Amino acid sequence: MCASLIQRSFAAVGQNTVVAIAIYVCCSVWAVSAALATEFQTLKGHGGPVMDIAVERETGVVATASFDNSVGLWTGRDPAWLDGHEAAVKVVEFIDTGRLVSAGDDNDLILWDRVSGTQQRLEGHTAKVQGLAVSPDKSLIASASWDARVGLWPVDGGEPIFLSGHNAGVNAVAFTKDGKSLYSASMDGSIILWDVEERAEKRVVDRNGFGINVLKLGGPADGPDTWLAYGAQDGVTRILDLETGDRLYEFSLERRPILGLDVSPDGTRLASGDGQGYITVFETGSWGIETDFRAALKGPIWALAFSNDGSVLHAAGIENIVYSWPVADLSSFDPMATQTPAFLRKPEEMSNGERQFARKCSICHSLTDDGVRRAGPTLYKVFGRKAGTLPGYSYSATLDGSDIIWSEETIDQLFLDGPDHYIPGSKMPMQVIALPENRKDLVDYLKVATAPKEAEGGQQ
Ligand code: HEC
Repeated sequence: MCASLIQRSFAAVGQNTVVAIAIYVCCSVWAVSAALATEFQTLKGHGGPVMDIAVERETGVVATASFDNSVGLWTGRDPAWLDGHEAAVKVVEFIDTGRLVSAGDDNDLILWDRVSGTQQRLEGHTAKVQGLAVSPDKSLIASASWDARVGLWPVDGGEPIFLSGHNAGVNAVAFTKDGKSLYSASMDGSIILWDVEERAEKRVVDRNGFGINVLKLGGPADGPDTWLAYGAQDGVTRILDLETGDRLYEFSLERRPILGLDVSPDGTRLASGDGQGYITVFETGSWGIETDFRAALKGPIWALAFSNDGSVLHAAGIENIVYSWPVADLSSFDPMATQTPAFLRKPEEMSNGERQFARKCSICHSLTDDGVRRAGPTLYKVFGRKAGTLPGYSYSATLDGSDIIWSEETIDQLFLDGPDHYIPGSKMPMQVIALPENRKDLVDYLKVATAPKEAEGGQQ
């Protein structure tokens, strides 16, 4: 069923084995889009960090590129795996509903045709490939490589052309909507504008003191692109006016490298992910910050993609899974602007149990019935509660209808085994709390912190 879980082991995804392109047998695309549109979701199954996320604009199908050498195609919770790369896959893009292109540490691009079930290897780069873009007319693929070159590959075959101009590895490429221009961003800190027809450099558009990791173009949904956004190693997110080249806006976040960037389909939002696991969402009309929240339990966020209708922001990093955040609710996910989340409080002011909760649970769970929405249900009055029964929260199939009752023992077991084992198919990320005293302190803390408030006193 849709909720079943495929966990692949990192080691098993080895060298170039069989081409596995499965026909979607699970949930329909529409069911998934609808489900993803409303609630926090996780996509689990990769056996290594998820390096990139792409969304097919017509169908909303999600593709993921992973350190486990595979590409995952998600129409439901059971992905189809595309195996062919011989090293970590760093980047994936859809060409159209039937075709994708991926690339990474084995220096090659692979063109996947899901209809014919074939894969075609495009060779030519001499170092890893970090970025890909598909021209709007779908005739060309551009690749950004650490061999300091940009590759231009005709989708229907034919010889590639390599553009030289950068002095160091190229990390990202983006076509303008008319397909006539291409921008590239490099570790040398420069952004170069290329004439696609002439296959030639036009000019250097900007220089930053530190390497540039990510690059996106944006503008009104129904007009040409008007701005370029880039994120750099020194923590800068900068917006350039495409016509004048002027720097329009700039944000600097305490030298956290900016690693992920995406623009919503209607052009109204820009999301960036950084080295400390924060996602910042900008409103592109005013360039105000709509929300800035910690989105990963540990490590950076380097993969970001809006769903095709803009209602969901998919994010990933070192944790092997994709978090899918409902955009409409983002501002209620503990925005940094309005309160100091528990995980930022001074550890020495907290008991060990509170510290466990602050670090490991508080980005997703509140402890009160204050109605503040998080990714997970509130744990207020969780002891004695039947699993999966908090009204108004949309649980995964595994918790909905489960007969677990939450108690000292069952919560202890949940984090002794880890959610993926104790409640397989759960939306909660895998997390084991190995030390028995840490689990005990956490449970003791939760018992007090989730207890009914005095106003309602004595009823439970
Ligand atoms: C990244 C988000 C995230 C983190 C971190 C997280 N959870 Fe959860 N948790 C969830 C989600 C989502 C669900 C709902 C699971 C489902 O429907 O499968 C959930 C469900 C639960 C439930 C079941 C609640 C019910 O109503 O049945 C408990 C208990 C729980 N979490 C405790 C914890 C504790 C304790 C921690 C920290 C050690 C933790 N969670 C960390 C997201 C998270």
